Amino acid sequence: MHSVKIGILGLGTVGGGTVNVLTRNAKEISRRAGRDIEIAWAADRDLDSPKICKTDGISLTDDAMAIINNPEIEIVVELIGGTGIARELVMKAIENGKHVVTANKALIALHGNELFAKAQEKGVTISFEAAVAGGIPIIKAMREGLAGNRIEWLAGIINGTGNFILTEMRDKGRDFAEVLTEAQALGYAEADPTFDVEGIDAAHKLTIMASIAFGIPLQFNKAYTEGISKISQEDVKNAGELGYRIKHLGIAKKTPQGIELRVHPTLIPHRRLIANVDGVMNAILVHGDAVGSTLYYGAGAGSDATASAVVADIVDVVRALTSDPENRVPHLAFKPDSLDNTPIMPMSQVVTSYYLRIATEDKLGVLADITRILSVNGISIEAIVQKEPEQQGGMVPLIMLTHEVLEKNMDAAIMQIEALSTVKDSVMRIRMESLG
Ligand code: HSE
Repeated sequence: MHSVKIGILGLGTVGGGTVNVLTRNAKEISRRAGRDIEIAWAADRDLDSPKICKTDGISLTDDAMAIINNPEIEIVVELIGGTGIARELVMKAIENGKHVVTANKALIALHGNELFAKAQEKGVTISFEAAVAGGIPIIKAMREGLAGNRIEWLAGIINGTGNFILTEMRDKGRDFAEVLTEAQALGYAEADPTFDVEGIDAAHKLTIMASIAFGIPLQFNKAYTEGISKISQEDVKNAGELGYRIKHLGIAKKTPQGIELRVHPTLIPHRRLIANVDGVMNAILVHGDAVGSTLYYGAGAGSDATASAVVADIVDVVRALTSDPENRVPHLAFKPDSLDNTPIMPMSQVVTSYYLRIATEDKLGVLADITRILSVNGISIEAIVQKEPEQQGGMVPLIMLTHEVLEKNMDAAIMQIEALSTVKDSVMRIRMESLG
């Protein structure tokens, strides 16, 4: 059988890794796919810059559209990233009847609905395993491996840069800004690192996973996103003393009121396996009604690790080339006409417990004022620690853990506490999850 010709768009970290893996493991890969896979063309906007892969035997161009319009190419592998030119190229590739493999999480999270509809119309596939958690085959696991389950919730550490920062802060007492600079130098951070630290990158990935878990359209604009830039060394230490670790989690949960879709720093009990996922590693905990909790762990970024997922997608597409489009695994796990409209809940309706850090004056009645406000708002305290002020006569840090409460009630309580004349700084609130 003749080989399948593919075209790769972008020869950066992931594109270069994909060429390397496809070349290095060519024999094994064609034994699995049933056909040889030939990288016929590759496009890069700067062909003169040094590449991490050899390009012998590959026709090179700086015009990605030439690959999209090349009738010989059956699969386009989009590894450019972003939602500008990448979106245009992917849409055109689909219109030209080509299958697409992409690692582009922003593209899928923001424009997946229209791209999948177009792909459906044209009878082609868009594969995007590498878009979520790099090398971890989480899309395949949820879409196929857990197909017998009602997925109830999932929680993931899905940004390596953020996890690296929090790990270094905890283990080495380092400051946020210094660690971020190192993460950028290591090549894990997004082009705009605020995407990592403010949770946008994680929200892209969470949006995709939630759609596959619950069979809903992609709704990135409804995800609640809170970053880790306000987490201080003090919070990391307090969490540790109370038996918790702070992780930047993406959480999607189905409740009777709707679906929670949220990314925020979270205290989780230190004995949980996922609390021990450190450095740039990623992990996703998925809870199905039949299987219970399952944990997927691995490299969430990096050249070869992400290429592993890209190549697996290419193999899947090659296997499906001759299959009837109606019988392929649906993009979002559920048949397109079976997606449902369960609403995404606003954050104010979410119920969680909280860690609070309140800096108060050391005066008679302060604690009574604060506990009264919490009680009026229906918030029950689970633990309370009053720490020594850092200097004589300074503010007293008050650390509280609460039982579960509606976010709206906590918002109201925090506003009232911050209005007290004895409370000077804003209240630090971090949500807690037991993940049991
Ligand atoms: N910037 C991302 C991370 C890369 O740090 O996890 C992988 O999506």
